Amino acid sequence: MGTDYRVFTATFLTLFLTVCIGVSAYKPVIIVHGILEPAYKENPLKDLITKAHPGTNVTIIDEYTELFSLYPMWEQVRGFQKAMVPIMQHAKDGVHIICYSQGGLICRGVLESMDDHNVDTFISLSSPLMGQYGDTDYLKYVFPHYLKENLYKVAYTSYGQDISISNYWNDPHQQDLYKEYSVFLAVLNNQTSNNVKSKEYKNNFLKLKKLVMIGGPDDGVITPWQSSHFAFYDENETVVEMKDQEVYQRDYFGLKTMDERGDVTTYEIPGVQHLNWHKNQTIFDDYIEKWLT
Ligand SMILES: *[C@@H]1O[C@H](CO)[C@@H](O)[C@H](O)[C@H]1NC(C)=O
Ligand SMILES: *[C@@H]1O[C@H](CO)[C@@H](O)[C@H](O)[C@H]1NC(C)=O
Ligand SMILES: *[C@@H]1O[C@H](CO)[C@@H](O)[C@H](O)[C@H]1NC(C)=O
Ligand SMILES: *[C@@H]1O[C@H](CO)[C@@H](O)[C@H](O)[C@H]1NC(C)=O
Repeated sequence: MGTDYRVFTATFLTLFLTVCIGVSAYKPVIIVHGILEPAYKENPLKDLITKAHPGTNVTIIDEYTELFSLYPMWEQVRGFQKAMVPIMQHAKDGVHIICYSQGGLICRGVLESMDDHNVDTFISLSSPLMGQYGDTDYLKYVFPHYLKENLYKVAYTSYGQDISISNYWNDPHQQDLYKEYSVFLAVLNNQTSNNVKSKEYKNNFLKLKKLVMIGGPDDGVITPWQSSHFAFYDENETVVEMKDQEVYQRDYFGLKTMDERGDVTTYEIPGVQHLNWHKNQTIFDDYIEKWLT
């Protein structure tokens, strides 16, 4: 009874403040959807947030959904950024972003290329942060005639780069071509020889207060699944941990600095398939809610 009463009072007060003076105790949350999804697929996550934190202004950005999610990543980054600007401008204490799957890479693009973002916490929800190298249904759908072994032949061409998946295709056996042709991931990671903006990107990324990476071995889509934690395959397809990657060790875009600052949190969670991350109550309760203050 006592607890119920306190919960009731807290909820009531939050709603009262939100309605009467337009102030919520919680920072606004922006959700970025995954590949080939309509935006409403993220509604369960929005519901989990507003149930736990009534009054939170949650926006699921309704851009580049379904087939449009195959557009080039930089174009999508610009579109998502444009939609985020007014939300950021209204949030003097900053915003949180939760970015799912391909959306996590869009958020990396926004964070690195935007010099006046005010993102407090970036929650990456099973996103191939270090790229993708695996046969999946998505891949078969987009490139029906290719398997992972030979996708580089189309992905690492200038026309191949017009499709989002190619922008973060990371073939461990074709690293020279990846560095030469990847106009997105290799640039975000500063693995190309000519990223004139690398210092700017690093500074922008470091304005982020906290990075939270959620992923796990039963995901079934992100390959290797450890890419959701900034780990990736070496030339023998052995997974190399984040801290042993060259991009980390040489701090190419600020990941090492952020980690040494104590602002990188990694959650490895078994038992969750790719399409369930944003619907799972215990995932939300145990690994997401505490960051959304
Ligand atoms: C949520 O934030 C957006 C952008 O700042 C604003 O336009 C909208 O009115 C807000 N919604 C609520 C319910 O406060
Ligand atoms: C990959 O395997 C080959 C053959 O076993 C070995 O010579 C090479 O050092 C390995 N590469 C790495 C990065 O471990
Ligand atoms: C990006 O890589 C280039 C070439 O390796 C290097 O000169 C530059 O310092 C790097 N930028 C950052 C921010 O580390
Ligand atoms: C929900 O997440 C928990 C881990 O927090 C996991 O054990 C469980 O299998 C998940 N359920 C589904 C349906 O994904």
